[in-house]
Amino acid sequence: MSNRTQILCIGAGYVGGPTMAVIADKCPHLDVTVVDINAGRIAAWNGDTLPIYEPGLDEVVRRARGRNLFFSTDIEGGIRKAEIIFVSVNTPTKTFGQGAGCAADLQYWELTARQILAHSTSHKIVVEKSTLPVRTAEAMERILNGNDKGVRFDVLSNPEFLAEGTAVKDLEQPDRVLIGSHETPEGVAARKALVDVYTTWVPRERVIESNLWSAELSKLTANAFLAQRISSINAISALCEKTEADVDEVAYAIGTDSRIGPRFLKASVGFGGSCFRKDILNLVYICRSYGLDAPADYWESVVNMNDWQQARFVQTMLASMFNTVAGKRIALFGFAFKADTGDTRESPGIAVARQLIEEHARVVITDPQALDNAKVDLKDVSREIVFEPDPYKAAAGAHAIAVITEWTLFKTLDYERIFRAMEKPASIFDGRNILDRQKLFEIGFNVFAIGKRPLKHF
Ligand SMILES: NC(=O)c1ccc[n+]([C@@H]2O[C@H](COP(=O)([O-])OP(=O)(O)OC[C@H]3O[C@@H](n4cnc5c(N)ncnc54)[C@H](O)[C@@H]3O)[C@@H](O)[C@H]2O)c1
Repeated sequence: MSNRTQILCIGAGYVGGPTMAVIADKCPHLDVTVVDINAGRIAAWNGDTLPIYEPGLDEVVRRARGRNLFFSTDIEGGIRKAEIIFVSVNTPTKTFGQGAGCAADLQYWELTARQILAHSTSHKIVVEKSTLPVRTAEAMERILNGNDKGVRFDVLSNPEFLAEGTAVKDLEQPDRVLIGSHETPEGVAARKALVDVYTTWVPRERVIESNLWSAELSKLTANAFLAQRISSINAISALCEKTEADVDEVAYAIGTDSRIGPRFLKASVGFGGSCFRKDILNLVYICRSYGLDAPADYWESVVNMNDWQQARFVQTMLASMFNTVAGKRIALFGFAFKADTGDTRESPGIAVARQLIEEHARVVITDPQALDNAKVDLKDVSREIVFEPDPYKAAAGAHAIAVITEWTLFKTLDYERIFRAMEKPASIFDGRNILDRQKLFEIGFNVFAIGKRPLKHF
């Protein structure tokens, strides 16, 4: 067997794939294998079209794949030879039983722990990469170290802070890498082995070491704080619309305060993505399970504000289109939860499309990367929706356009041409505040943006 350090990652998704590709690219002295139960996904990682869209990822994978980066379905073989095992399987919100709708569903996680135990014959460092409830490592250790094979496992928490759309940059130049372990000699030694991997390319001062529980809790807390900022500015956006204050001016004014800062203060139709909602609800569940109802209610309100903002967006559409959209064609510009990704998990587009269909609108969706996922998200109502890659065709004959995703493409379209092909009066609802409102108004559109005075011809 080779004496190169063998790294394995279980789970080849949005986190496992890019993270391991960057580790392999930056650390040619390590062998990195990514395994998954989903054979189609592994085939895509080995093929020409990667299973996820992420700027810069193709180049990274092309450089490392076949050299020291491997994608495989051989989970057992991978476990057997690995020294360090990252676990990056999905931890969605539980949909059944106790904690349904709030708690993390840890079935994939536990299954993976048992798989690791079953196929290990030598010491392993097991790294929690997935986002998990605080104290999950305790359960992980109990499963792994309760064995009678004489094999020891050290569990580390190394939560991933990458954001989809900027994953490669976030991994190549992270703000910080967080590694938690027990403060025992074995725990500290395992932590050092992982620190050594990251410091191959990450400056040492950016690698933070902590105890296991702090590392686990930091990830949920980071997402809750980020989402809380979006819900806070969205709450203010509604007030702006009532008072003729402008939400971007308010956000700029408060964001220049260095204690607050400018990021995550962009008002919008609401946040989406696979993490914010599920991680906050998980935090809510953990608070409640410790009897901490007030903090649970507080964090839950961040999610409630997001649901409210999405519903408010549709209410604005209805109110300004004579209180009915029945039979009217409405083009959704974008469906991904944000630009530069094809990921649609928890996208505000899902709630907006469903509410419009309930109102009997004729919905057309256009998106440069997310149409395949949109078809899956809306499969129960897909007969009532047109999926159209060309935004000009999507808008033709429509009464309204609703911008759901901030793709650069939508800023560069010929809106005079679009206006000519639409029904009149033609309205634009800019759920991302990316378009030139004044210009659109002069073309003839009624323009509704988030937290802005509407520009109307009536
Ligand atoms: N997506 C993000 O932006 C992001 C960012 C930071 C952290 N996270 C966290 O990282 C974790 C993974 O997220 P993701 O977006 O990559 O999920 P994902 O659904 O894209 O990928 C998870 C993969 O794990 C595989 N898997 C599940 N059980 C398995 C098993 N027993 N053996 C082998 N493979 C198995 C699935 O087939 C899937 O391909 C989650 O806990 C998430 O909260 C996600």
